[in-house]
Amino acid sequence: MSQQHPSRMGHPVPSVTVPSSPPIYQSTAFDVPDLDVLEKIHAGELHGDIYTRDSNPNHTALAESIATLEGTEGGAVFASGMGALGAIFLSLASAGDHVILAQAIYGKTMQLAHRMQRFGINVSTFDATNPDELTSLVTDRTRFVLVETVSNPLLEVSDIRGLANLLPAEIPLVVDSTFTTPELIKPCQQGASIVMHSASKYVNGHGDVMLGLAAGSADMMKRLNSTASVFGQNANPFESWLCQRGLRTLPLRMKQICRTTQELARSLNGHPSLRRVYHPSLENHVSHKLAQRLYPAGTGGILSLELAGSGAEVVNRFMRAATSIPFAPTLADARTTLSHPASTSHRFMSASARAAVGICDELVRVSVGLESFEQLQSELLAALDMIAKT
Ligand SMILES: Cc1ncc(COP(=O)(O)O)c(C=O)c1O
Repeated sequence: MSQQHPSRMGHPVPSVTVPSSPPIYQSTAFDVPDLDVLEKIHAGELHGDIYTRDSNPNHTALAESIATLEGTEGGAVFASGMGALGAIFLSLASAGDHVILAQAIYGKTMQLAHRMQRFGINVSTFDATNPDELTSLVTDRTRFVLVETVSNPLLEVSDIRGLANLLPAEIPLVVDSTFTTPELIKPCQQGASIVMHSASKYVNGHGDVMLGLAAGSADMMKRLNSTASVFGQNANPFESWLCQRGLRTLPLRMKQICRTTQELARSLNGHPSLRRVYHPSLENHVSHKLAQRLYPAGTGGILSLELAGSGAEVVNRFMRAATSIPFAPTLADARTTLSHPASTSHRFMSASARAAVGICDELVRVSVGLESFEQLQSELLAALDMIAKT
């Protein structure tokens, strides 16, 4: 074997084969042959990575994967779902501008919008189940409208095509599809301009990654990437690699959790320890008809249970009774988890603000994982039976 130049020590010896699993490019920077090549990379005439904050092969591969799955020109990768949302706000809105958000939206997203008010961005909210409210809020300073495909934790469904049709062409509809993934809906095929995901959730699906993704036009992705680079919202190559691996099983995982969640909603509905089960497959859900039309395969792995009883006390009794289902303030892990929106995702809201959007203190969110329906049904029913007795 020939001796390596000291600057190449530790690099793999060139090989005629390629690894079956893509390598991780855990590198801060990339060696550039000379200034001519550098200029061509900057001009877009050659593809090359220079500095990982701007681009990295693992990020590019994942960005291309999400663009393919969403049917868009481009994709982009961020350090987290909030990183993606932050880049969208910072790229599209400036002081004096206006943005409109669905009122039933992830708590931190609402918090982000409130922070943006400090920088002169005005925020309005609307009820996404009543799209007519949207038209009256649009002004000539409105820069985008943000909704979730299926809201957290009450699972209200947005009619993406209906909303996009109400907006003037120059106002982008941004859709957070974290709960649904491209397996269940492709918002940009229904009139949205940008779709984003907290890939920390189903897209990765194993509870071991913090990552955000966006997909849309090539120009829009360029803008978001440029913002992410300036504000340091870039991801880590290893997380992109893990997420790429998670994506390989996305179709199987979504199929299984949709089926289990629907069956659980049906079998828990009506239990005497529950005031209400929230799931769009149930006829009493506000989005039942719309969900049947937009989500024939299901709305994902979330269902919410409103416990009969009062406050933290009944929630604690239920969580302690459900011994094998952990309480974890996340969702979309491969295992089933429980969360309490009032004290986790929506804790920064006042009790009255939570009540106004239908989130009471007795609400428990179940994120259904890959266990069998029979196992989950027996564990949840046993916990509900136990709190009925105590
Ligand atoms: C619907 C939704 N959007 C965005 C986010 C933020 O994503 P991340 O936790 O990856 O920053 C979350 C996180 O739970 C979420 O549930």
